[in-house]
Amino acid sequence: METALIFEPYSLNELKLNNRIVMAPMTRSRSANEGNVATELTALYYKQRATAGLIITEGTFISEEAVGVVNVPGIYSQEQIAGWRLTTAAVHGEGGKIFAQLWHTGAYSHPDLHNGNKPLAPSNVNPEQQVFTAEGFKPSEAPQPMTVEDIKRTISDFKQAAINAFEAGFDGVELHGANGYLLQQFFSKNTNHRVDEYGGSIKNRARILFEILDELKGIVDMKRVAVRLNPSLNGIMGILVDDETIALYNYMVNKLNDYGLSYIHLIEPFTDVSAIPAAIQQVAKHFRKIYSGTIIINRGFNKETASQVLAAGDADLVSFGVPFIANPDLVARFKADAALNQPDQATFYTPGEKGYTDYPSLNN
Ligand SMILES: Cc1cc2nc3c(=O)[nH]c(=O)nc-3n(C[C@H](O)[C@H](O)[C@H](O)COP(=O)(O)O)c2cc1C
Repeated sequence: METALIFEPYSLNELKLNNRIVMAPMTRSRSANEGNVATELTALYYKQRATAGLIITEGTFISEEAVGVVNVPGIYSQEQIAGWRLTTAAVHGEGGKIFAQLWHTGAYSHPDLHNGNKPLAPSNVNPEQQVFTAEGFKPSEAPQPMTVEDIKRTISDFKQAAINAFEAGFDGVELHGANGYLLQQFFSKNTNHRVDEYGGSIKNRARILFEILDELKGIVDMKRVAVRLNPSLNGIMGILVDDETIALYNYMVNKLNDYGLSYIHLIEPFTDVSAIPAAIQQVAKHFRKIYSGTIIINRGFNKETASQVLAAGDADLVSFGVPFIANPDLVARFKADAALNQPDQATFYTPGEKGYTDYPSLNN
């Protein structure tokens, strides 16, 4: 049967996934507590979704400097590590697997979130975004360009956050290199105007990613480290496709082959890029030829299209975002060909249980 592949187990190196349906990372802003700690409610939310072959958590901040959204649980304090242990124990108790997504928002932040200081970013480029602060959405401002010392400290913060994630019981970590946040701000020409070793050439703009991975080598098991990329992001989140975008991502993904990672997590174009020849049109298909390890593909998939992409061999696993918000038992619903609950966008980022842990499963 054509759809069976998504239900087949998958070996992510030695990590055995029960199926090929992955829960994509999604910020839910439910940690409105002192210290931004993941709580029992966070644990319940992920536990409800633990029949996914793999869960990737919401982006979790690697340091105070990394913060760009309110009420997001971090992974830089002892209290936060203890908070996340509730989630990893709950998911493992259900036989699930869970990676932490490590996040630094860079320019996509606001002075309100940094005691009045400008957020740090590769260059002085305002992403022109609305930032979710304690007083509601506010327009972003021009960030403070990072010194080399700032960059080295950030690399070290990624390393410590990865160590913390393993201490919290996660099965692995995913570096958030996508969606216009700090790492992608280094990758893209329009957000990186640096003239030092972190700007200019493709190799220089990609350098920070490989310096983070080089730091992790020897300290954590690289088979438990992953990277998320959004190569065709254009015109949203402050990022533009440019004449070197394809060459840049070809370089990065080819080089990632050398790191023996758990997987790379790719996103198909967020917007229509068919009129832009410099954009990669079919992301999974393109990188399948370049990357020799596991590929997770994302964006806009349903049961049928996920089955198709796996059957075509363009990806090994498919991640689902919004469908998992509204359907904790998405895997069972796919198996039963049952109708899906519709997501309520109004509660994506609001506090408490509503729109978070109160979506019904088939059996209740
Ligand atoms: C509420 C919400 C929060 C999100 N937060 C994150 C995040 O923290 N990290 C990330 O890499 N992507 C984030 N995304 C993007 C999703 O991971 C995914 O790429 C997107 O929803 C498209 O997949 P889908 O069509 O299956 O929903 C978020 C998406 C939504 C809807």
